[in-house]
Amino acid sequence: MSGAARHVLARGNFRDLRSPAPEPDAAPPVGEPQARWRDLVDRLLPQAAPAHPDWPVVDDHCFARILLDNACNGPWRESVAAPAWANMPPDRLAVAIDLGNAVLSGRADLALLNRRSLQWRGKRRPPEAPATLETASLRLRRWRRADDAPFARLNADPEVMRHFPKLKSAGESLTEARALDRRFEADGFGPWAVEEPSGPFLGFVGAMRLMRAMPFAGGERPGSLIEIGWRLSPEAWGRGIATRAARLILADLFGRCGLPGVVAFTALGNTPSRRVMERLGMVQAEDFDHPAVPADAPLRRHVLYRLAAADFAGEPA
Ligand SMILES: CC(C)(COP(=O)(O)OP(=O)(O)OC[C@H]1O[C@@H](n2cnc3c(N)ncnc32)[C@H](O)[C@@H]1OP(=O)(O)O)[C@@H](O)C(=O)NCCC(=O)NCCS
Repeated sequence: MSGAARHVLARGNFRDLRSPAPEPDAAPPVGEPQARWRDLVDRLLPQAAPAHPDWPVVDDHCFARILLDNACNGPWRESVAAPAWANMPPDRLAVAIDLGNAVLSGRADLALLNRRSLQWRGKRRPPEAPATLETASLRLRRWRRADDAPFARLNADPEVMRHFPKLKSAGESLTEARALDRRFEADGFGPWAVEEPSGPFLGFVGAMRLMRAMPFAGGERPGSLIEIGWRLSPEAWGRGIATRAARLILADLFGRCGLPGVVAFTALGNTPSRRVMERLGMVQAEDFDHPAVPADAPLRRHVLYRLAAADFAGEPA
């Protein structure tokens, strides 16, 4: 912890009792992401804090907590052993560093990131989401442990994952299921588990706050855009389930949650997913290279669609 940071008081009313133990003195190699991370949270953010009276925290360990939790979609210690700088998976450390840089440059709202972190840690009341969204033929609900096995099968199915960079292992699938459900606690909305009344788990449809900067208009501010997405098992395809579920969810997002609009994107060749976006009345906007897909991968090129709340028609006539 830097000397400057040690002597400033947290401005927020939260002292994080479960914050990470002080990092060991061992210095990460200069130039590596770990060293950039340490410099960001130990020096750059605490030094910038006095010029930002709107920031809810000033201490290095608070910055680390907020950025790591948001990169992990929940309290980071649930999935990473301390010290975080040494043990964070590289992709999540990269997200945490990007978020920190976005805070520094004024592109990310530290108060929003802090609220999400505190809600996950039970220190703030999360926004309430309804237990279910239902129609006579469709039931959207929060995730259950019993969904883990069918979700893992879905994520290991090459047909389902045709438009994703790779299949997911059972462990990766489990981490994703928990992170998807955690989004309800942070934002009051999230990706719903989908089933037909008394039927099996079919996959998910729902909304996610985009926590990484994206290379399209309006995407430069992490946390400011809401994405709607879907992944269903092949038995469910072709019956309009994704479209019907998404309509229910959009009504909730634009009504109860008061969101001004959503985006959706997919690999250029994912026609079924693009058809869902079009059926919802979303407007094709621009193509872009997805930053999480390797540069040489054929799936890197994506297409973006947008929908403003004012243009949402709800149920088709
Ligand atoms: C994208 C997905 C959720 C669509 O779900 P769905 O419930 O089948 O959607 P709908 O029934 O509303 O159909 C959407 C379109 O896909 C078409 N479609 C459905 N199943 C299909 C199949 N097996 N092959 C080709 N097209 C298919 C439908 O005909 C429809 O097109 P249309 O409007 O021209 O008739 C589903 O295909 C899926 O889970 N795919 C794998 C995961 C994925 O790619 N997710 C999106 C990542 S961005």
